[in-house]
Amino acid sequence: MNTTLRMSEIAGVGHYVPDRVVTNADLTTLMETTDEWIQERTGIRERRWFEEGKDTTANMGANAARKALEMAGLQPDDVQLIVFATLSPDYFFPGSGVLLQRELGIQAPIPAFDVRNQCSGFVYALSMADQFIKTGMYDTVLVVGSEIHSSGLDISTRGRAVSVIFGDGAGAVVLRPSTREGHGILSTHLHSQGEHAEELIVKEPGSNRNKRVEYVVDNHLDMYPYMNGQNVFKHAVVRFPQVIKEALDQNGFQPQDIDMLIPHQANLRITQYVQQKMGLPDSKIFSNIQRYGNTTAASVPIALSEAVQEGRIQRGDLVCLAAFGSGFTWASALIKW
Ligand code: UT7
Repeated sequence: MNTTLRMSEIAGVGHYVPDRVVTNADLTTLMETTDEWIQERTGIRERRWFEEGKDTTANMGANAARKALEMAGLQPDDVQLIVFATLSPDYFFPGSGVLLQRELGIQAPIPAFDVRNQCSGFVYALSMADQFIKTGMYDTVLVVGSEIHSSGLDISTRGRAVSVIFGDGAGAVVLRPSTREGHGILSTHLHSQGEHAEELIVKEPGSNRNKRVEYVVDNHLDMYPYMNGQNVFKHAVVRFPQVIKEALDQNGFQPQDIDMLIPHQANLRITQYVQQKMGLPDSKIFSNIQRYGNTTAASVPIALSEAVQEGRIQRGDLVCLAAFGSGFTWASALIKW
């Protein structure tokens, strides 16, 4: 790291999840599945589904952002840049970042953009925000991860391998220049491997087809997510430990130095594998997939927000964020809290 650049720190964090709780038992009324199968394979007991007319990707992000701003002691008008991570934007375009700006009532023409990096989207977005602060371009950056999966899932037996996993929710952080020497984001690490792009994908309506909308309708194609679950799992359990170790190595730490690991909540089995591989006790790894399922770009900030709320992260702790998902893309961030 170039030590002449200033560091950034997370000055506030917050989350929002829709009120509607959908249990595994609820899903058994929609498809052939069982609570046992879902819990044994994924650890998930329930997830949240949005309420049409009330929750949107942008306003859930705004709800999370308000809490993060409150914790930071700031107002929406203090925000100088919005970085919005989502794979389920309100519209194909424009992105949800500008909608969040409107939702928060920010009148100033500050920049806002979306990051489409799926499960690693939030860590990528955090890394980008960190660069803007490091270079001195902005002082207050809002980083949001928000997803509505439930409206786009095949909730029949045909789609059960994917649809039981995903849930809706939002998380946000406010990034500011660090006020304490050596504290804040120590480093971020970003990777992708596009050869696996189709392993976890929503393919249609692809813009590379003539008359893409007609193509989908005429060919009776669906627009549901496809996932080669076993292959994604196989890569995830390799990339998570790798990218965590990369962050530790760069900063001269060992796995036992981690105070709290916040992995993307993809599957409890993946998290347990990573925990075992890193040799971490239960107290040093955070899991809430049991209650929310996999909320993609929202999962890391929701988990971070809950960990902070529960007092499981204290000043001076070494916190590691890590994510892996569609792309494939994967990333980590090491933070001296
Ligand atoms: O967010 C980042 C990216 N995502 C991930 O990291 C997810 C990674 N992958 C996984 O978590 C797991 O692969 C899954 C949880 C998605 C699936 O678990 P699995 O152990 O790989 O199961 P499978 O897909 O191999 O399916 C095993 C069996 C199949 O039946 P047969 O062919 O053995 O008779 C499926 O049809 O389980 C069946 N099955 C189900 N049964 C009941 C699939 N989904 C369900 C279901 N309920 N919901």
